[in-house]
Amino acid sequence: MNVRIVPATPAGIDAAAELLRAGDVVGIPTETVYGLAGDAFHEGALTRIFAVKERPTFDPLILHVSPALLSRHGSGKSTLEQLAHVGLVDAARLGERATAGAEALLAAFWPGPLTLVLPKLPAVPDLATSGLPTVAVRMPDHPVAEAVITAAGRPLAAPSANRFGRISPTSAADVAAELGDRIPLILDGGRCSVGVESTVLLLDGDGLPILLRPGGVDPDAIGRLLGSPVRTWSPLAAPGASPAPAVSPGLMASHYAPRKRLRLLPGPLAGVERAALPTVLPDRLGLLLVSGDPESGARRFAEVTGRRVIARTLSRSGDLVEAARNLFAELRGLDASEAEEIFAEPCSRQEGLGYAIGDRLRRASDRGGEGA
Ligand code: TXA
Ligand code: MG
Repeated sequence: MNVRIVPATPAGIDAAAELLRAGDVVGIPTETVYGLAGDAFHEGALTRIFAVKERPTFDPLILHVSPALLSRHGSGKSTLEQLAHVGLVDAARLGERATAGAEALLAAFWPGPLTLVLPKLPAVPDLATSGLPTVAVRMPDHPVAEAVITAAGRPLAAPSANRFGRISPTSAADVAAELGDRIPLILDGGRCSVGVESTVLLLDGDGLPILLRPGGVDPDAIGRLLGSPVRTWSPLAAPGASPAPAVSPGLMASHYAPRKRLRLLPGPLAGVERAALPTVLPDRLGLLLVSGDPESGARRFAEVTGRRVIARTLSRSGDLVEAARNLFAELRGLDASEAEEIFAEPCSRQEGLGYAIGDRLRRASDRGGEGA
């Protein structure tokens, strides 16, 4: 492993910015997950991102901006006008309602874990958007991400810093474990505070919100702000959604997957019976609880299965913010443990971050392949 993991001091941030300006890629912290950053306008950097992640080029990237980068592009202007000036968004192609909706969303949730999909300007490389007429933009709420973008002086493409389809990294060490043999530098900004990726949202031709990926911003909060409920995009439910997104990794059935087989329990652990589990079970089972105490969970699951159980919980108290923050690290922990297969309690709560946690667990599981 040749990667340098450097603390996010001013010197570390300068080193990262220098690499970025030269068209190289670096691992950076954000409040959601660590990103693999590269200059959004540099074809070579974009190519590196796809190669390093082993990501198919039909999956478009999110482009990240900072407040200082935008205000350099017109301090008195609206955020959409600044996004136009910096070369990303074709604000003129947004209808009146979508313009009002987008401005309200950006004012309420930026900086923060909301990604908006907006009409793109021709300057945005097709590689960044997979040839779509739209571009996904986000302003991370993290001092290090913000400083790197500002110092690089241009929008940065930054997908999660994991190999394609695998668990997203929430610490510098996780990034090193995923990509340490293929990138020069990781800025260490500590553990991510949100822990799941940004919410990806599209405003349709009528300015109505369509959820492309659940994430750090609660869709109900978006619905309340816009005064219209957020619909979930699906190729069947919204064939005419305009502009129709191509397949998104965030929408792909199987994603965020550990190496070991992960299955979802049919319901909360307390009600699970042996008959509902696979007939053949290995000797050592991993158990991931969304809430509650892992010791009693392990005892209960050991009683049901007759196997040795290694249990982890996302939040003893059932706090969804804490659960989201711990999700990917606990999945990695169980993946690295002695457990041979992992069982996870489904997250049935729909409020707050519950929807995003449930979504990630489903996609990490072998049920992901059923298109859940
Ligand atoms: O929290 C995050 O968003 C993290 C951090 C690093 O900022 N980034 C991240 O990027 O999760 P990535 O590349 O792993 O996910 C990008 C998501 C995918 O679901 C992709 O399909 C969607 O955004 N996306 C990007 N551009 C799009 C577009 N033009 N239309 C529809 N979906 C788009
Ligand atoms: Mg990702």
